[in-house]
Amino acid sequence: MEFSDRIVAITGASSGIGRSLAKHLAGKGAKVALMARRRELLEELAGELASAGATAIAVRVDIADREAVHRAFDEVGERLGRIDVLVNNAGVGYFGPLERIAEGDLDRLVRTNVYGPIFALQAALPALRESRGLVCNVSSGLSKRTLPLLAPYAGTKSMLDALSDGMRMELRRYGVRVVNYCAPETDTDFDRTTIRGEGVAVPKTRRRRQSPERVAARIARAIEQERREVVETRVLVWMARIAPGLLDRMFSGMVDRYDAS
Ligand SMILES: NC(=O)c1ccc[n+]([C@@H]2O[C@H](COP(=O)([O-])OP(=O)(O)OC[C@H]3O[C@@H](n4cnc5c(N)ncnc54)[C@H](OP(=O)(O)O)[C@@H]3O)[C@@H](O)[C@H]2O)c1
Repeated sequence: MEFSDRIVAITGASSGIGRSLAKHLAGKGAKVALMARRRELLEELAGELASAGATAIAVRVDIADREAVHRAFDEVGERLGRIDVLVNNAGVGYFGPLERIAEGDLDRLVRTNVYGPIFALQAALPALRESRGLVCNVSSGLSKRTLPLLAPYAGTKSMLDALSDGMRMELRRYGVRVVNYCAPETDTDFDRTTIRGEGVAVPKTRRRRQSPERVAARIARAIEQERREVVETRVLVWMARIAPGLLDRMFSGMVDRYDAS
């Protein structure tokens, strides 16, 4: 799929990967619908893209609110006339031990990362069927193998992987394609917005993270090539396959390091 004149709706476009993806695709001639909760950030980005000659609209939405999601996608359809691509990118992290995860945090995590992409798909599907369009789900490399304290988050992304497989098979009859992109660690606001379990220390990573610009370019390429799935954390997946017990032992120490209680 080429992006020129395509209408692309991106959830989570107010920061990080979604924001970089919107810029990248607008640069390739796509008309973008920027969707997230922080309206002022979306409007600022839409203005920036418009002054560079692109078409961009800001549509406020809480992806966890089904009614609001339907209203938001109706608005995209009315203002831009069509939807060719839906990028389910909005998401939130969780860091903490399973033994103490609060019900409210679990609800927010699952509603955002799992219900959100389903609500968005349902709302955008009539338009995607008409355009014989494409859905790209932004998952995580952790969906293939979690690390301690990240299991609830990783679990939502494993579910997104399964949803991608289901969508791919179910939407084939409408000519709608599905790409699942499992992102690597990326230098965004994600750590700051991650929900933290009570008493858990904030991890300080020294690992080199990918830039959101590079990840956005990789997502764009996956969509252009209509790849079934792209998994960026190959070393972790490979280790999980050949030495899962060793991986368990290597990472168990993380629990004591970050959770002193
Ligand atoms: N950064 C990483 O290391 C990494 C690694 C693997 C996968 N990912 C995935 O990549 C995606 C983008 O994350 P990021 O790294 O770019 O983090 P980010 O900078 O925190 O961006 C998250 C985006 O999601 C939006 N969002 C969160 N909750 C929402 C809600 N209820 N309704 C609507 N929008 C919501 C946020 O917008 P508002 O706050 O304005 O609503 C924001 O635009 C996520 O799905 C994440 O799981 C990230």
